Amino acid sequence: MNATEQKIKNLTTLLNRYAYEYYTLDAPTVPDAEYDRLFRELEALEAAHPDLKQPDSPTQRVGGAALDGFASVRHTVPMLSLNNAFSPQNEEGVFDHKEMYAFDERVRGGLNGTAVEYVIEPKFDGLAISLLYRNGVLVQAATRGDGANGEDVTQNVKTIANIPLRLHGDNVPKLIEVRGEVLMLKADFAALNQRQTEQNQKTFANPRNAAAGSLRQLDSKITAQRKLHFFAYGIAQQEGGFVSQEHIQELAYLSELGFSLPYGQFGCFPNISEVLAFYEQMQQKRSSLPYEIDGMVVKVNSLAQQETLGFISRAPRWAIAHKFPAEEALTVVEAIDVQVGRTGAVTPVARLQPVFVGGVTVTNATLHNEGEAQRKDVRIGDTVIVRRAGDVIPEVVRVVFDRRPMQTIETQNHLSDSRQDDLFATPSENTSTATEPLYPQYRLPEHCPICGSDIEREEGEAVARCSGGMLCQAQRAQGLIHFASRKTMDIDGLGQRQIEQLVAQDLVRHFADLYRLDIATLQKMKENAEQAETQTNTEDMPSETPLIFSDGLKSSKKASPTKWAQNILDGIEASKQPDLARFLFALGIRHVGERTAKSLAQAFGDLEKVRHAPEPVLACLPDIGSVVAHSIARFFAQPEQQNMIDELLAVGVAPQTQTTSLPLAQYVTPERWINRLPGFKISEKKAAALWDLAGKSADGLILDKALPAEWQQWRSIPANLSLLTVMRQFLQHMPSETDTITESRPSGLSGKTFVLTGTLPTLKRDKAQAMIEAAGGKVSGSVSKKTDFVVAGEAAGSKLEKAHALGVAVISEAELLTWFNP
Ligand code: IVH
Repeated sequence: MNATEQKIKNLTTLLNRYAYEYYTLDAPTVPDAEYDRLFRELEALEAAHPDLKQPDSPTQRVGGAALDGFASVRHTVPMLSLNNAFSPQNEEGVFDHKEMYAFDERVRGGLNGTAVEYVIEPKFDGLAISLLYRNGVLVQAATRGDGANGEDVTQNVKTIANIPLRLHGDNVPKLIEVRGEVLMLKADFAALNQRQTEQNQKTFANPRNAAAGSLRQLDSKITAQRKLHFFAYGIAQQEGGFVSQEHIQELAYLSELGFSLPYGQFGCFPNISEVLAFYEQMQQKRSSLPYEIDGMVVKVNSLAQQETLGFISRAPRWAIAHKFPAEEALTVVEAIDVQVGRTGAVTPVARLQPVFVGGVTVTNATLHNEGEAQRKDVRIGDTVIVRRAGDVIPEVVRVVFDRRPMQTIETQNHLSDSRQDDLFATPSENTSTATEPLYPQYRLPEHCPICGSDIEREEGEAVARCSGGMLCQAQRAQGLIHFASRKTMDIDGLGQRQIEQLVAQDLVRHFADLYRLDIATLQKMKENAEQAETQTNTEDMPSETPLIFSDGLKSSKKASPTKWAQNILDGIEASKQPDLARFLFALGIRHVGERTAKSLAQAFGDLEKVRHAPEPVLACLPDIGSVVAHSIARFFAQPEQQNMIDELLAVGVAPQTQTTSLPLAQYVTPERWINRLPGFKISEKKAAALWDLAGKSADGLILDKALPAEWQQWRSIPANLSLLTVMRQFLQHMPSETDTITESRPSGLSGKTFVLTGTLPTLKRDKAQAMIEAAGGKVSGSVSKKTDFVVAGEAAGSKLEKAHALGVAVISEAELLTWFNP
């Protein structure tokens, strides 16, 4: 053997090993790039020396010349089928395994009562295939066909990455025929369909069809691009090598030879009840497996016993396909509603004629979102396939289009020029009939079915949302939990649990309702909640459990009847004077987080200004882009939201006015706000020119007839004109740039740096910080020469010492407060 031949042989072995490690063991030992490099090296050598190409060369995996048709292969050992057993499930999901017990009876009867072990393994939902290896090399692969004759798909099968082209190990038989299943993993199927859609090609209905379509390609190059997978489940014939006594040994031997087995998904058990328990577990796991299975196959483990049992007609007596309940069923869409989630996400839901599938009666199926509903083109009246897999929410898989209800319509034909003078044409010649779907394409409603607020979808987002926030019952508890939380209104004692109970019992609907709570209501809430809890407890309890248990539970919780309620009320009372920023954050305006709320507070100083700020002004602020500005403006544009704020003020909530520290006039310049007018595209430079043309006044922008046509056109839309009017009013009241600088910081904290240390007598740390910042000061964590003041409370330590050492002024909380209330 010359060096080239040796080199080719070595590369072949090495690449096959790498492929095995990668595809079968799922444990690659070299980077992909290294594999590719060696692969190309081998390709080049083979091209130069075709006669030296090895029979197990990995270069065959990319496919070869296209065929005219598949040759026929006669199966020396016929490929038989399996009898089925079903275990119907009742509405509670309990299986009736009658048919499997009958199978077990038959088996044991056929063996005169000797003990039987069973192997249970997945019933793969793919295509049966037979692989013939001579002297360890794959020489032929055939489909099942009619069981007696199949098709030769050797070229295609060689492209399947986890099928060994040469068998592994020290125990390679002279001849072996391996049986197993070719399938496509769910993930590869989804990716394939995605690609097909992108390339405007037909998609496959399920992984099985995709696998079949890919394996039966005359052009094996196409098969090579489709990711197929193979699992071995048996040996049809064998000469030499390890002699198995049991099916489970066969499986172990197949693994040793380099085949993939479904690890974790098969087992050997001493009796039928353990087999059935494993089946039930697998049924649970089914939807989370990477490939589809339509049941489990139960086989007698002993090969000798298999032989004794033999075959009846075309199926073994020693095995059975224990099918899973159907996960898919046909039904009709009666209506399409929407559901509003706790975060406002709006999901279209198909209301279905009830159908029993996957162990339960399904009446609703999710359509996920508007895009999905339209892509699947689900309409009222459609017959659809619904799928319920495991605990997954039932979904509509697809529409059976040829059962779609249609209507006949008459269309008026357009008379062509030549026929225009044909006054004698009968009406029927001028009309024709066509059919069209009875129902239109699905669209999300424009308003939330629960609260009537606008449903909106942001660009690039699949999910649409109800913009109602707290106005929407579906979102209420969420909104209140946020409102009361630590970084917002910080209501002590009012946690998620209490809020959920208050909302569930309809004792609180809006923010303001919190401030109307009294001890009696809170107590009622607790009692109701406990009652509900006790009821469910007793229901769940076995009847022999004494009821005293639940009584005891109840009285122990009643220990202190009013203290907890008073705590909550105190917490609520104490939250009445929030900083403006906290208050704004608490409202739950979409896109307004802590930071944005702070910016708003710093720019406007008081609530009245914020709640009337026009969108273009908001969009001028630092950190606030068009999406956020739009969201804020939209929030305050809803009269219901304004009412809600008024109610809060009426019950005594008083967001603290603060001096502004963001110079508004510096940000809201004409070129900037004109540039940010919604729906009017203009650069800041051109906006400045427009402003000049309008005589540098909002009045000019509103009234001037000599402005560019695009402007006049935009202005002619009523909503735009009213926005301009609002802008004009706002500008009149906006402090000028010089005002901002001189007037906005009367307390004179501007530019001053503070350090807080020790426990302050009345103020919490973050409250003090907020006050200082609101007045234009800064708060730092450590003392340096640059520090202007150290505010020291009780038990102040090293920072106080350092202040003394550096000669920094030290003041008390009381002195600090004089800055705010001179
Ligand atoms: S054993 C004589 N084991 O089911 C018994 N078949 O109805 C031969 N199948 O088309 C089959 N998973 O491709 C066996 N673990 C498994 C299987 C399995 C799927 C398919 C097989 C055949 C059909 C038999």
